Amino acid sequence: MVSSSDIAETRTTQRAQGSATILAVGTANPPNCIYQADLPDLYFKVMNNEHMVDVKKKFKYICETSMIRKRHTLLSEEFLKENPTISDPTAPSLDLRHDVLVVEVPKLGKEAATKAIKEWGLPKSNITHLIFCTISCVDMPGADYQLLKLLDLSPCVKRFMMFQQGCHAGGTVLRLAKDLAENNKGARILAVCCEIQLMAFRSLKNAPLDYVISQTLFGDGAGAVIVGSDPDLTNEVPLFEIVSASQTIIADSEGTIGGRLSETGLKLHLSRTVPDLIAKNIDTVIEKAFSPLGITDWNSIFWIVHPGGPAILDQVELKLGLKEEKMRASRHVLSEYGNMSNVTVLFIIDEMRKKSVEDSLATTGEGLDWGVLFGFGPGITVETLVLHSFPTSIPSTIATE
Ligand SMILES: CC(C)(COP(=O)(O)OP(=O)(O)OC[C@H]1O[C@@H](n2cnc3c(N)ncnc32)[C@H](O)[C@@H]1OP(=O)(O)O)[C@@H](O)C(=O)NCCC(=O)NCCS
Repeated sequence: MVSSSDIAETRTTQRAQGSATILAVGTANPPNCIYQADLPDLYFKVMNNEHMVDVKKKFKYICETSMIRKRHTLLSEEFLKENPTISDPTAPSLDLRHDVLVVEVPKLGKEAATKAIKEWGLPKSNITHLIFCTISCVDMPGADYQLLKLLDLSPCVKRFMMFQQGCHAGGTVLRLAKDLAENNKGARILAVCCEIQLMAFRSLKNAPLDYVISQTLFGDGAGAVIVGSDPDLTNEVPLFEIVSASQTIIADSEGTIGGRLSETGLKLHLSRTVPDLIAKNIDTVIEKAFSPLGITDWNSIFWIVHPGGPAILDQVELKLGLKEEKMRASRHVLSEYGNMSNVTVLFIIDEMRKKSVEDSLATTGEGLDWGVLFGFGPGITVETLVLHSFPTSIPSTIATE
């Protein structure tokens, strides 16, 4: 008969010993690039909205204050010309948008995943779990299944599809990857976030003002990471240890960020109170995350913050008295790619570790040991990860581009 100590021993051998660690990162964007300075003229032309002079003025102003230099997009003028229902706010276009997205989302995800797998350097047969996260499209079997096929992964890879989460979900994906890695000895998780904003691209005719905000901030991209515990240091290069991960909902914030899939695409709602609500609550969240470590100096850690918009970064910085350089990586990614929803924090991780090597800093976290990753999204939901960096002296297979 099996005794309870046998069961306990079995449980122990099933689990990993150490914390989950990010072992590789890959990113990808569609080839079309739009400079924010050119966007107002281009957008109002392709949407046939040139007559909306006041809205265009507002749009131009938001573009100028967005702190975004450029964004990448799958959309092209030709596609919009050939498919006029996309820019008609009254015409059903859900099927058309879905037909494109169910193909393109796994494809872009594959580009990012291929780079992460190449950097990781081990055979893809070592991947045990796959997480795919998107708000861009919904189908069955989902983008996780399509990606498994595109990458020719084993049919026994355990898949988790996360639909309709939102901008905080880069953190959710890493939190789930951590639980999987730590509870399954030897697990290697490929986690992919991919967003193509075609579903939310829409005309501003008779639209609320917050649609202007979403049309000016969001960009397309995909990010992928390989996560596993107890790295084999002869073959794997650890980048960041995920020390703890938590999720919380900000009090009295219901209804301030949301989305509804409709026949005319995804209708996003963003309240102007979002930056203020996040800033008012950020001290409580960070104090709770770092109290087990006794860390209270927020300038002594590195920062990876979802840049929902510049006002979010500005207000968090102000509330916690952060030095200007703390948000460098987050502001850089916002500037070069816009808000790619849940994908964005994966780009910031990539930017931070590459710049740390480029600047000959001692650790992957801008020379510092401890850091925080924040995701903010519908709810308002906050994902908080405490990260620990690794020395940059560990040989890496990536070149800093
Ligand atoms: C949008 C943003 C870039 C504008 O920057 P800014 O011009 O410096 O900010 P302001 O607050 O002065 O806003 C400019 C105008 O846009 C309006 N505005 C800002 N956010 C708005 C929103 N969410 N909905 C409607 N209007 C909004 C302001 O009321 C103001 O209009 P007014 O001059 O007629 O009063 C900035 O407010 C921002 O970063 N917001 C956060 C976006 C967000 O919530 N993202 C979350 C996604 S996860």
